[in-house]
Amino acid sequence: MGARAGVGALGVVLLAILVFLAVSSWSRQPAVAKASIQPINFPHNTHVQTYKLDCQYCHSDARRSEYAGLPSVTRCLGCHKITAADRPEIKKLGEYLAKGEPIPWVRVNKLPEFTYFPHKAHLRAKLTCQECHGAVETMTTFAAETGRTLTNDLLNLVGLRPAARPLTMGWCVDCHRRQNATAGMHAPLDCVTCHH
Ligand code: HEC
Ligand code: HEC
Ligand code: HEC
Ligand code: HEC
Ligand code: HEC
Repeated sequence: MGARAGVGALGVVLLAILVFLAVSSWSRQPAVAKASIQPINFPHNTHVQTYKLDCQYCHSDARRSEYAGLPSVTRCLGCHKITAADRPEIKKLGEYLAKGEPIPWVRVNKLPEFTYFPHKAHLRAKLTCQECHGAVETMTTFAAETGRTLTNDLLNLVGLRPAARPLTMGWCVDCHRRQNATAGMHAPLDCVTCHH
């Protein structure tokens, strides 16, 4: 009886270890495009699809600088002083304004410091945001759809969702080669333009 209970307990421990390993490998995040916990649960889909806001209304530095930029609290409050002002996520906007602090958004796409990526040149070449960032207009939380969860992996497996962009050097160079060959572009292939 005692021995059987011991074997049973061992079985439970082994099973627990297996489950832990399975869960931890599923939840291992890729370097890029992981679902982040944002300070405010900002839905891209509502703003872009339902209310037809242009990407550059909020990411307005993209066409003139290296960065795309994020909107200020005041820009959000331009609408939300009135719109949905009673909702908990919207009340946080007023709190950041009162504290005089920017919203501490968690950065998702980040290249290493030794690289140079200018948004401006890519918009001038008429690339769409979606070509590099995917269908942002469908996302309730940016990149959450492409995060490593069992459901997302299964959906990716059957081809229902495009895989997340890896933002690797190979990805940059492949597109540069392709654009130069097919669209008459002069996208750099030399090391120093992207590394300085
Ligand atoms: C109403 C303002 C607003 C509009 C419109 C908007 N965004 Fe955003 N975007 C945000 C905010 C706020 C964040 C930061 C929170 C987050 O990541 O969800 C963000 C985050 C992002 C990020 C991730 C930034 C990072 O940390 O790497 C990308 C990429 C992005 N937006 C692209 C787009 C694209 C493409 C469109 C148009 C289809 C768009 N956005 C429209 C406000 C907006
Ligand atoms: C041009 C107007 C406009 C701007 C600018 C705007 N929003 Fe919105 N936002 C809306 C509308 C309209 C809704 C839908 C409200 C509803 O469900 O009735 C909404 C919904 C939301 C919601 C969901 C609220 C909920 O809990 O149901 C959040 C969160 C939000 N916005 C945050 C932001 C943030 C953060 C910014 C700035 C980065 C921003 N919004 C900029 C118009 C705007
Ligand atoms: C050619 C690919 C490409 C295109 C096109 C592109 N992006 Fe990006 N985006 C990137 C990469 C790569 C990063 C990471 C840059 C870094 O870490 O230096 C990034 C970062 C961002 C960020 C977070 C950091 C920042 O720059 O503020 C936002 C927001 C963003 N992109 C929005 C947009 C929007 C909106 C558009 C369209 C107007 C757009 N991007 C077009 C590749 C692209
Ligand atoms: C979807 C295609 C695409 C991807 C992905 C892409 N690029 Fe580009 N890139 C272009 C095109 C097109 C140009 C413009 C060439 C021209 O103007 O003739 C360009 C231009 C550039 C330039 C030159 C800027 C200037 O001022 O002339 C740099 C630097 C650059 N890209 C870096 C990167 C880096 C780093 C990445 C990866 C993180 C990247 N690109 C990903 C298409 C792409
Ligand atoms: C079009 C832009 C672009 C060009 C051209 C380019 N790189 Fe990169 N490189 C990147 C980006 C973006 C990264 C960071 C992402 C990554 O590690 O894949 C990177 C990463 C690297 C790394 C670090 C790799 C690692 O695993 O940490 C080295 C080393 C490197 N590049 C060397 C070179 C050399 C040498 C050349 C010229 C033959 C070159 N690169 C040309 C964009 C570029």
